[in-house]
Amino acid sequence: MKKKKTYIIFIRSLLFFLLFFCPKLNAQEQTTNTFEYAEENQQCLKCHGHKYYNYFNTWIEKMVRERMNPYFVIDSAEFYQSNHRNFSCVDCHSSDYRKFPHSGELRMEPRAGCMDCHGGDETYAKFNFEQIDEEFRNSVHFSKYSDEFTCWMCHNPHSYKTSARNNENLQKTIEYDNNICLSCHADISEYQLLTTLENPNILETHDWLPNQVLHFKNVRCIECHTQISNNVLVAHNVQPKEKAVKLCTECHSQNSILKETLYKYQKEISGKFEFSQREDFPHLIGGNRIYLLNLVSIIIFLITLGGVGIHIILRLINKST
Ligand code: HEC
Ligand code: HEC
Ligand code: HEC
Ligand code: HEC
Ligand code: HEC
Ligand code: HEC
Ligand code: HEC
Repeated sequence: MKKKKTYIIFIRSLLFFLLFFCPKLNAQEQTTNTFEYAEENQQCLKCHGHKYYNYFNTWIEKMVRERMNPYFVIDSAEFYQSNHRNFSCVDCHSSDYRKFPHSGELRMEPRAGCMDCHGGDETYAKFNFEQIDEEFRNSVHFSKYSDEFTCWMCHNPHSYKTSARNNENLQKTIEYDNNICLSCHADISEYQLLTTLENPNILETHDWLPNQVLHFKNVRCIECHTQISNNVLVAHNVQPKEKAVKLCTECHSQNSILKETLYKYQKEISGKFEFSQREDFPHLIGGNRIYLLNLVSIIIFLITLGGVGIHIILRLINKST
């Protein structure tokens, strides 16, 4: 009897220990409510988080329901997963937005750029913001549109989160990164914020690439369109189309550029990267070279050649008789 009691006490204290001292178990409980400014932000999101909003119209003295401009709708789930999830809306926007109707002047408010906060800050040294900024300034986008093309155009202020560096799911990173480019290059309304040009159809301009769907799922636009960079994880110097990678062997070879681009992070953390090391990515055509197979295929080739040769000789002999 006594044994059983001590046993139960032991189990109980074990559970107690797990619940209170294992932060992982508690972390699972984390909801949007645990963010410092969640309640304050709700004051904005009750309108900006939905397609419709309500307000009390003091002129006609009644509640009215209206449509929110779809470009002003913010997905709160995405916001609370983004890099800036711990922010209050009014950290980046004027606190005068707390009033509704918003003052007309507010639309002219200047907005802080990445470098205003991240420039020269040691905390973010690993990202090398300075070099990213420099690369961006050399890109086609900046040389054509200068300050009108801001970092925010690719990094949505309300949803941007680092992906490649998290190294969680390569397919998702590819999709995430490509959607950044496609948000303009496949969407005329976004594209024409900058230019009145027609937006060339991406599928048509890339129809030289065999198995396009497969390629766009397995490589990012930036693999072919940026200049390889040593000091930053994600190269930002988008080059003019004439300089884009078109040669198959730039990727399909043993010293594939993918080792310096898509697989850069894997290479950084493990010192080196070979295609054959990854279980989920075993067969980039041309990526692995297996010498035995090479030898076997050369032998088979020679045998075939020999066979054809003998065949021709036999036929010639046959014909002449
Ligand atoms: C009662 C609903 C409501 C609330 C609450 C509200 N907004 Fe708005 N907001 C709107 C509407 C409608 C517009 C678009 C028309 C306008 O400017 O009045 C807008 C526009 C904006 C714009 C875009 C201005 C522009 O022209 O570029 C920003 C930025 C903004 N709101 C931020 C905020 C912030 C930050 C909060 C919270 C502090 C907030 N809003 C609270 C309804 C609301
Ligand atoms: C990290 C800074 C930051 C935070 C935090 C932030 N915003 Fe913004 N917001 C911006 C920037 C920058 C723009 C302008 C985007 C652009 O120029 O493409 C913007 C634009 C907007 C717009 C207008 C949409 C547009 O495309 O012009 C609305 C509405 C808005 N923000 C509401 C909010 C609300 C509501 C919150 C809180 C949930 C919030 N913002 C939090 C930086 C921020
Ligand atoms: C208003 C100041 C401000 C602006 C503007 C701003 N950031 Fe940040 N950013 C911060 C702060 C502060 C943090 C840290 C947030 C935290 O720890 O919760 C942060 C976090 C980040 C992180 C995550 C860092 C990490 O350790 O995981 C990245 C990446 C980032 N910002 C990129 C950007 C980019 C890109 C832009 C422009 C498109 C930008 N930020 C604009 C202040 C800013
Ligand atoms: C043409 C689109 C584009 C523009 C413009 C752009 N970026 Fe990026 N940026 C990307 C893409 C795509 C990624 C990869 C996102 C990921 O997978 O984490 C990225 C990643 C980043 C990262 C994370 C890199 C890392 O080491 O994890 C930072 C920091 C960053 N950008 C800062 C900036 C700054 C600062 C500017 C403006 C000077 C800027 N970006 C402009 C497309 C862009
Ligand atoms: C905000 C919208 C926008 C985003 C996001 C964007 N682009 Fe662009 N891009 C443009 C515009 C506009 C042009 C210039 C068209 C012109 O003036 O010729 C352009 C030009 C280009 C060109 C040069 C074409 C040429 O004629 O030489 C390439 C390549 C390119 N973009 C690739 C990318 C890649 C890769 C990404 C993602 C990392 C990206 N873009 C993200 C709008 C965008
Ligand atoms: C395998 C390499 C590769 C990939 C991946 C790739 N591109 Fe390209 N892209 C090229 C080449 C090469 C050209 C030049 C084609 C030509 O001139 O015939 C080009 C042309 C372009 C142009 C200019 C089109 C024009 O005619 O004005 C844009 C814009 C562009 N690409 C954007 C993208 C975007 C966005 C993605 C991702 C969805 C992407 N590219 C993926 C290699 C690539
Ligand atoms: C930017 C790098 C890159 C370039 C450039 C490139 N490829 Fe690929 N290719 C890949 C990747 C990554 C895969 C997917 C590997 C896999 O899953 O098998 C792939 C897959 C393929 C496949 C399909 C293999 C299968 O499993 O079905 C073929 C065929 C192919 N590429 C041919 C070409 C040809 C031909 C060219 C030149 C016109 C080319 N590729 C250019 C990266 C590239």
